[in-house]
Amino acid sequence: MSVLSPGAGSLRAMSSGDVVHSAGDDLMDKVVNLCKRRGFVYQSAEIYGGFRSAYDYGPLGVLLLRNVKDAWWRTMVQLRTDVVGLDASILSPPEVWEASGHLTNFSDPLVDCRNCGARHREDQLEDPDVCPSCGAKGQFTEAREFNLMFRTQAGPVAGAGADVYLRPETAQGMFINFANVLNTARNKPPFGIAQIGKSFRNEITPGNFIFRTREFEQMEMEFFVPPDEAAMWFEYWCGARMDWYTGLGIPADKLRLRPHDADELSHYSAGTADVEYLFPWGWGELEGIANRTDYDLTQHAEHSGVDLDYYDQQADVRYRPHVIEPAAGATRTMMAFLLAAYDTEEVRGETRTVLRLHPRLAPYKAAVLPLSKKPELQAVSEEVVGLLQPRWMTDYDVTQSIGRRYRRQDEIGTPYCVTVDFDTLDDRAVTVRDRDSMEQDRVSIDDLVGHLDAKLGL
Ligand code: GAP
Repeated sequence: MSVLSPGAGSLRAMSSGDVVHSAGDDLMDKVVNLCKRRGFVYQSAEIYGGFRSAYDYGPLGVLLLRNVKDAWWRTMVQLRTDVVGLDASILSPPEVWEASGHLTNFSDPLVDCRNCGARHREDQLEDPDVCPSCGAKGQFTEAREFNLMFRTQAGPVAGAGADVYLRPETAQGMFINFANVLNTARNKPPFGIAQIGKSFRNEITPGNFIFRTREFEQMEMEFFVPPDEAAMWFEYWCGARMDWYTGLGIPADKLRLRPHDADELSHYSAGTADVEYLFPWGWGELEGIANRTDYDLTQHAEHSGVDLDYYDQQADVRYRPHVIEPAAGATRTMMAFLLAAYDTEEVRGETRTVLRLHPRLAPYKAAVLPLSKKPELQAVSEEVVGLLQPRWMTDYDVTQSIGRRYRRQDEIGTPYCVTVDFDTLDDRAVTVRDRDSMEQDRVSIDDLVGHLDAKLGL
């Protein structure tokens, strides 16, 4: 966990994700290049020279990112009876961040070089005395705490509106709605509130493509439990979250759970472990799982004056729930899935690039490819597209040779290509090609949906 609330500065310094990608990193370059070339991720405002650290998700990226979020939601909300969802507002008043501790503590220590004017994070300097930009020694100003929250103003009158903040995490939305959800959702602890949404941090050192950006998406869940069950649920969520990543294709040897050392823990945390992926530049955090104790509910109860305890009528006991928080980054996780899926192999003397994405994550589940542009083949191909589209995102590609089209689909991770050929006009069957094995099956159009359904196994 790189950033939480109070004490964040010291935690951030220790995040292994702070290492910056080196230009010689082959896999990283290939994936970044693929992202641009095939429409996964573009530099934001590129036609104006690019807006640093901001990215736009193109036609394939929006599908992949959505699938990552849907996969998380399915596991964390849909398949459970003890977790409900929430979509809280991004703009929030200062009171929330006063109570959470972000207004005072969500900061990084910054120093300016008097010689060249460059600004650096003090905790990231190799030599605390030497400016890495110009080499000047002893020219740094005193460190200042730089708050990472974006502040703006609400209301139409310039300069006269109230300060509001773009949320730096989705988590506080769950804490400030705890009583609302408790009163409306029939759940009692242990239960969770889950949310997916954008968060904003004025990162001083964004970098490594979409790994650390100023605008990103989080997938967070706050699991409210009786205090004496907190340790057990912490262990449970550490295991469950690791299973989620491996179940979607992250190789076990590229994933680790790194418990925080005692001196790394925030003062409210009774335990934190990061799920880390082995990025080309080293281990980097995908998710932090924290036992946040009753810190957040206590803070908000005290600052708002609203009772945030839970009264268990059956047992006639009142307590303030403790919270276990699995907090993941959607955009960063999408990048890990891309890196893990990227593969190249020799096929009959040619190199093919294949994204071995889990079918649940693949932007398109199938592509329909008529062997030729002849109208009679296109007509039946469109009929096939019409059968598949209501079930799955389906691509339809008529241009260039069939070999080129297979390669194109391999490169974007489409699990199945459905080829319509001249025999189809007689036997009403199509050829289904498997992305990974490249094996082909002849399947009747009437059985196609069932066949793909079974193959995809979603
Ligand atoms: N509520 C707890 C919390 O926000 P965090 O470790 O600061 O904890 C959770 O953030 C996850 O959000 C991280 O593990 C990471 O995946 C993602 N994240 C945080 N800052 C990010 C950034 N600047 N860019 C992309 N993802 C980020």
